[in-house]
Amino acid sequence: MRLMRHAIYPGSFDPPTNGHLDIIRRSARIFDKLYVAVLENRSKKHNFSAEERVDLLRRITTDLPKVEIITFSDVLLADYMKQTGIEVIIKGLRAVSDFEYEFQMALTNRKLNPDAETIFMPTNIENLYLSSSIVREVAAYGGNLDGLVPEHIKQDIIAKFRRKDDGNHETH
Ligand code: PNS
Repeated sequence: MRLMRHAIYPGSFDPPTNGHLDIIRRSARIFDKLYVAVLENRSKKHNFSAEERVDLLRRITTDLPKVEIITFSDVLLADYMKQTGIEVIIKGLRAVSDFEYEFQMALTNRKLNPDAETIFMPTNIENLYLSSSIVREVAAYGGNLDGLVPEHIKQDIIAKFRRKDDGNHETH
């Protein structure tokens, strides 16, 4: 075991939420370096481009010098960790319903890369209900995002969905 501990917090972050920021802040206290890794997946439709998600994450972590925002694509997380020598995966856990899939991913990642250890961090109680999809849903209907996403990026998220609205006058 090395003394310098590097960890990776992977996700879609489409968009980042207060729940993500809480996990980032708490992990940055534990590790020497935290890579927040944005999944750039061409087969999965994201609302925000990878560049936009990186930019949003950078802007909400400017006060956290140990945090670096990166992207990864077309590579298994386990292999990416082998390539970079990062050994710890951080995952936020909300409800028990998150657990089954996360447990499966943790075991698979360790099977693929025996050095890859997953650490589950329980969410803060106020973010228990929060997810990117909930944020997208509220934003799509022009709802109030206070307390759901960091203040710094709230307007960007509102603007993204307003723009989408402008370009789409179909009724569903
Ligand atoms: O925010 P999300 O969408 O729940 O994050 C999922 C993510 C990015 C952590 C997961 O899909 C992932 O690790 N993808 C990289 C490809 C990979 O390694 N898949 C196998 C995991 S067992």
